[in-house]
Amino acid sequence: CRNTAIVLAAGQGKRMHSKIQKQFIELGGMPVLCYSLRCFQESPLIRNIILVTGEEHIDWCKEEIVKKYGFTKVSAVVSGGKERYDSVYEGLSVCRDTDYVLIHDGARPFIDNAIIERGLAAAAETGASVVGMPSKDTVKIADDEGNVKETPDRSNVWIVQTPQIFRYSLIYDAYTSIREKNMTGITDDAMVAEHETGVKIRFSEGSYRNIKITTPEDLAVAEAFLKLF
Ligand code: CTP
Ligand code: MG
Repeated sequence: CRNTAIVLAAGQGKRMHSKIQKQFIELGGMPVLCYSLRCFQESPLIRNIILVTGEEHIDWCKEEIVKKYGFTKVSAVVSGGKERYDSVYEGLSVCRDTDYVLIHDGARPFIDNAIIERGLAAAAETGASVVGMPSKDTVKIADDEGNVKETPDRSNVWIVQTPQIFRYSLIYDAYTSIREKNMTGITDDAMVAEHETGVKIRFSEGSYRNIKITTPEDLAVAEAFLKLF
């Protein structure tokens, strides 16, 4: 196969308020980032992995993550950018002969092979898919004064996760185009495809375990998951 995983680990983790970036925090004996790398390493559906991290962490990642844990599928460790979408673009720029690209948050350790399988199958239908789960909570949209504006029908509300999966040329062109326009406020990859292409983006089932480590509470939840499953 010619599928590439881009794993994002160039964020500062401001909401985590910890000294060390959340993707490098030790969880059950290894850094958070290693869990998703291990999943892609072991998946027969993935040919290679591109790791995107801060300029200052490139050498450390090559030694202490890629070499130490034997992640032989990592074909490049590249420097990210200021915003998540800048980091994604850097990863997309070094992809070679890729059919499908899976863009994944390095801060999301509990991805599994079934999620990858379902996601790729969904992406094969239209060219694009996002992994997500039905929202457990009711979601409301606020107005600018902090009042409730509207309440979308909960049965149509999905909480999106990663990986988000695209035909390579489609997402590379879309990212190139939003950069030319200096578009900002982009929080996930599907938004880029929504804005720049007419592609139908399929939802694919993730899991309620596939959380993103964002605030300190999430680390406690992750520790509990490790003990339970
Ligand atoms: N990310 C990245 N480059 C950036 C920003 C984010 O590679 N410039 C990565 C993060 O490392 C993380 C993923 O994108 O794996 C999801 O982003 P988020 O949860 O927002 O992480 P941070 O931006 O690091 O955290 P915060 O927003 O709290 O500062
Ligand atoms: Mg962020």
